[in-house]
Amino acid sequence: MDKVRIGIIGVGYRGMIHLQNLLQRDDVIIRAISDPNIDNLAKALSFIETRGEKKPNLYSELNGYKHLLDKEKLDGVIVSVPWHLYYPICKYALEKGIYVGVEAASAQTMEELYDLLETAQRFGGKCMLLENACYHRDVMAVMNMIKDGLFGELVHCRGGYEHDLRSIKFSPEMEFGAGTQSEAAWRTEHSVRRNGDLYPTHGVGPIAQLLDINRGNRFISLSSYSTKSVGLNRYVAKHQGGQHENAKRKFRLGDVVTTTLTTAKGETVVLTHNTNVARPYSLGFRVQGTDGIWIQENGNHLYLEHFGEDNIWHADSKQLLEQFDHNLWQRFGLAAAKTVRHEMDYFVLKEFVEAIQEEREPRFDIYDMVTWLSITPLSERSIEQDNAKVAFPDFTEGKWQERISFYKEPSLTY
Ligand SMILES: NC(=O)c1ccc[n+]([C@@H]2O[C@H](COP(=O)([O-])OP(=O)(O)OC[C@H]3O[C@@H](n4cnc5c(N)ncnc54)[C@H](O)[C@@H]3O)[C@@H](O)[C@H]2O)c1
Repeated sequence: MDKVRIGIIGVGYRGMIHLQNLLQRDDVIIRAISDPNIDNLAKALSFIETRGEKKPNLYSELNGYKHLLDKEKLDGVIVSVPWHLYYPICKYALEKGIYVGVEAASAQTMEELYDLLETAQRFGGKCMLLENACYHRDVMAVMNMIKDGLFGELVHCRGGYEHDLRSIKFSPEMEFGAGTQSEAAWRTEHSVRRNGDLYPTHGVGPIAQLLDINRGNRFISLSSYSTKSVGLNRYVAKHQGGQHENAKRKFRLGDVVTTTLTTAKGETVVLTHNTNVARPYSLGFRVQGTDGIWIQENGNHLYLEHFGEDNIWHADSKQLLEQFDHNLWQRFGLAAAKTVRHEMDYFVLKEFVEAIQEEREPRFDIYDMVTWLSITPLSERSIEQDNAKVAFPDFTEGKWQERISFYKEPSLTY
């Protein structure tokens, strides 16, 4: 295949990282970019010119994504925009029957997710959630250990998004919304009107991979609990005084939202969303099997009966993870080291581009995307209904029983 023709919709913080990483690939050509922020468009263009690449067509109107998708001959498009825009943009892109790489996002409603699934099926478009955490080196090494039976049978997993976003949710003046920069312009508003796990995919993506969700296993139910919401008010009061309107504003989003999922194979999964209070960044992974446990919190901690230890953490968990390093990382780790921001991003884009080249489903497909994203509206529903246990839909309509295991999937094993 000739170079893969890519369009990029949204070149803010994240889209710009994708652009720079795609520019490092010699099998990709950036054909067009759409973003109403002309400063961001100009910055994107300067990266392209520095690389000596051909200037892409630029679309700066609010609905420029439609013109981009109508006019350009593209193989794939990457969408990195404010959360509320994913649905209309991805739907429009899927109607073109192309590959759509979707940044980690937050779904608004179940209806939108069902509609995206139906649109992909009707028009043949292929969707991949670009969940970089799935390619975390440690997660993939643990996957190898699970494959080799070192954990015995899995019974429980944990993960989540625990990231103190307070300085991102507000400008230095403690404002958000129109007139503020980057995510303060759109993300904080979700904390005002929604209460649920608003950002589940960094946690659930890797766990879904380890538990083979939609591949012989599936989520059956979910229930969510939320704490009170005080973190954002206290943060604003600390920086601008208690009389600031955002120090008194009612934020619906609980500071810590905890969601428990059950699976068809009898495991439980606990996800945490924690973005309003002080703490260091963590995805807080835990994998518990009958024969051992992995915890990633302030470093890696492994305890595996296989290695003969008696009730103490393995002395050198780092070394053990290196021993089980995944062959993808062994083969492409050096190339990944050149990636802008994080090496995981190399692998997620590699998979997206290669799926296009090989004209196949991406490793994480539309079923995975809607499954992971649906945790947000389902958790909102659960909290609204006094933490009710909510049935988890089977988007695959039974196909989860035959779909090939993540552990046997060809793009991982070559
Ligand atoms: N995977 C990760 O590690 C990671 C990290 C950060 C953000 N994200 C996700 O990436 C996405 C984007 O976040 P961000 O931090 O880049 O936000 P951002 O605000 O910095 O960038 C969003 C960009 O979208 C543009 N935009 C707005 N309306 C548009 C439209 N109609 N058409 C095209 N572009 C439009 C904005 O002008 C801006 O340039 C979010 O879903 C966020 O959750 C993922």
